[in-house]
Amino acid sequence: MPDAIAQLVEKIRSPQFVRAVLSGQRRNLQPKYLRIDIKPVMLKDGVKLQIISSDGKKDFTKNVAADFDFAQLLNSGYANLLVDTETESFQVKVSKKDEALLSVSKVKLSRELAHDRQKQRMLAEGNQVFKALDMADILGRIKPSKMDKYKQVDEFLRLIDQTLNTPLISGDEIKVVDLGCGHAYLTFALQEFLKDKYKKVSILGVDEREDSKQHNEKVAAKLKIEAKFLAAKIADTPDQKVDIAIALHACDTATDDAIYWAVKNDAKVIMAAPCCMHELQTQIKESPEPWGLLTKYGLVKERLVDLMTDSLRAQILKLLGFRVDIVEFIGGEHTARNILIRAVKTGAAPSDLDKQRFHQLINDWQIKPYLANLLADELKAATQISRS
Ligand SMILES: C[S@@+](CC[C@H](N)C(=O)[O-])C[C@H]1O[C@@H](n2cnc3c(N)ncnc32)[C@H](O)[C@@H]1O
Repeated sequence: MPDAIAQLVEKIRSPQFVRAVLSGQRRNLQPKYLRIDIKPVMLKDGVKLQIISSDGKKDFTKNVAADFDFAQLLNSGYANLLVDTETESFQVKVSKKDEALLSVSKVKLSRELAHDRQKQRMLAEGNQVFKALDMADILGRIKPSKMDKYKQVDEFLRLIDQTLNTPLISGDEIKVVDLGCGHAYLTFALQEFLKDKYKKVSILGVDEREDSKQHNEKVAAKLKIEAKFLAAKIADTPDQKVDIAIALHACDTATDDAIYWAVKNDAKVIMAAPCCMHELQTQIKESPEPWGLLTKYGLVKERLVDLMTDSLRAQILKLLGFRVDIVEFIGGEHTARNILIRAVKTGAAPSDLDKQRFHQLINDWQIKPYLANLLADELKAATQISRS
């Protein structure tokens, strides 16, 4: 063991050092953190070694000089010690008998010295949820193929976090319904994120695919959490109490079904990231002048009508008493469709200008948005109430 540690320390201090990861637990020892990452960084006063310690929820970062006592750190109870240089990967596994098994393999890595001012992630890479979702490897590192998803989850949690400041969702319990949840990456991450803020987090994931339900129930069992999954059409989701309704990249009018369901069930927050949209594309044959130029070219028309669909969805929610903004949502397979409609119920009455703009757009373009049809009664009532 001491020989192996000495070898690893020498590699960490060498100019070829790329990264180190300490994880796992040695028999009868309780390391302070779940995982420790070490990497070289260039700071104002030269190259330092950055130690990032993660407890599974938060990362704690410190920068140290090369003469730091790495031997003590490496000996502080971790069972897996990985040290990569530009050309070799050293892996030490500590056996139950406290023997170090060292293996060395050839690698080709480059040393990245730029000081990575990474933003604090909402959930650390090493969080149990990412292992359960098979997004992270056994060392708790996000797999390269899942990095985009991880960033998408992070951005989504950031957007939700800003919204939770609303006094509408106070109290001990919060109920989330994810409509079109797929493999529920965002659903489980949201559950994990909310559990520190609320005593009870109830989750329902709805997807028409039976295999999604089965997959998600297995993940919930791995995480030992109570989350319900339903294999059903969004439109057939039973009515129930909901605080936050989310619908991320549910196809075409499924987003409208989700928004309708959320409004009908009195959701306080709605987060909808639309996906492909065909409904208005087929309704618009020609455009009122002077807008003819904008629908002359197929590609431009497609993008314009996508934006029109989302603007109308946002406006309908506004007319129904939601404060709405449309923000950029990174990730998603369609880069041009990385929009997220975020709506928070305030009950504010819409202005006459808002009503007028909505009616003028649908009249001038001779369109009937699917969501406006679904919510026809509610829209009529909202208009009547504000006129009286
Ligand atoms: C692109 S995936 C997105 C999954 C997940 N929301 C995410 O962002 O990772 C869309 C999911 O919506 C589901 N879906 C689409 N239309 C649906 C509908 N009308 N009812 C229920 N599920 C639907 C699909 O089966 C698919 O799993």
